[in-house]
Amino acid sequence: MTAAVDTPPDDVLRVDGLDVSTADGRPLVKDVGFTIRAGERVGLIGESGSGKSLTSLGIMGLLPEGLRATGSVRLAGVDHELIGADEKRLSRVRGNDLAMVFQEPMTALNPTMRIGRQIAEVLLVHRARPDRASAHAAAVELLDQVGLPDPAAAARAYPHQFSGGQRQRVVLAIALANDPALLVCDEPTTALDVTVQARVLDLIVRGVADRGAALLFITHDLAVVATACERVMVMYGGRIVESGPVREVFTRPRHRYTQGLIAASDLTAVDDRGRLATIAGSVPAAGDFPEGCVFRNRCAKATDLCATRPAWTGTGPDAGYACFHPVPRGHGGVRAADTTDHQEARRG
Ligand SMILES: Nc1ncnc2c1ncn2[C@@H]1O[C@H](COP(=O)(O)OP(=O)(O)OP(=O)(O)O)[C@@H](O)[C@H]1O
Ligand code: SF4
Ligand SMILES: [Mg+2]
Repeated sequence: MTAAVDTPPDDVLRVDGLDVSTADGRPLVKDVGFTIRAGERVGLIGESGSGKSLTSLGIMGLLPEGLRATGSVRLAGVDHELIGADEKRLSRVRGNDLAMVFQEPMTALNPTMRIGRQIAEVLLVHRARPDRASAHAAAVELLDQVGLPDPAAAARAYPHQFSGGQRQRVVLAIALANDPALLVCDEPTTALDVTVQARVLDLIVRGVADRGAALLFITHDLAVVATACERVMVMYGGRIVESGPVREVFTRPRHRYTQGLIAASDLTAVDDRGRLATIAGSVPAAGDFPEGCVFRNRCAKATDLCATRPAWTGTGPDAGYACFHPVPRGHGGVRAADTTDHQEARRG
């Protein structure tokens, strides 16, 4: 029997006070909290080293050896806390309720097993199909849904016979096989060329929408979030610094880091010497972020006040920001000059 879960009925995932630390206590992710509602598509963005992957790995119980998660991760329909749960329980959750797609598809595929069998095994292990024949038929159907041209032939093939984009479709088919409540994708299209990226992104969005599943989509690509997600969380220095509806955050950011990130993603923001905008400075190594506001050493608006930790301002963990000197309301867009340097524009 499934006991009551302390999440509102609409919440698929609830994360509270999630920390990820090294064995010697160095914090890599700090006090992350958010919810994802049924069917909601949420982006997690931030520069390389912000803590995006560790956040998702902490949620899924897949942290590398030597790292430790504390806090709370609850999934609707699962009667136990995921932080600290044993591997047997976690792997059941990962197969049934929580699925994932990573950047490199081969990490999720068995190179020595035919694709159809790999999908069928997932369905059989989690008892989604009663026997091998029906599991195989469902596998072919899934390969069709992710747009592989000859799904019956694809089911008989091995992973090395596919291109990178096709392999990622296969991984998506496996991830969607058990109708998960939540799909977590970490840079699933980054290694693919641009046209294949768009197609795979479309399949991910359609795949979750058809199943009423929620999506947590990790990327450094703001355009991808604008296309695929309804809500976005901005991460820096292991903390979520801003969160809200994509349209609002991208057109009227409040946090100075979000403002810089948006300005730096604008390839039309070239100064009169032809230089592209970038955020000033670079991301410190994990554990070397300043006290107080983690963005302080790169922020053009920093004052003495910023040496203390800015409180969260907003209606809840899913809508707000943590900044002492936010971009004023009605600022009317992002000016690269506010938080960015310029570098030589790439040509050709
Ligand atoms: N096993 C580990 N031990 C110690 N530090 C680690 C470990 N794994 C990651 N880190 C550090 O934690 C920080 C956050 O890493 P994470 O992989 O979550 O970043 P990310 O936001 O996903 O970046 P990217 O966009 O490059 O994937 C980085 O500074 C990284 O070097
Ligand atoms: S709190 Fe201060 S340092 Fe941090 S982003 Fe805001 S203005 Fe910049
Ligand atoms: Mg990452």
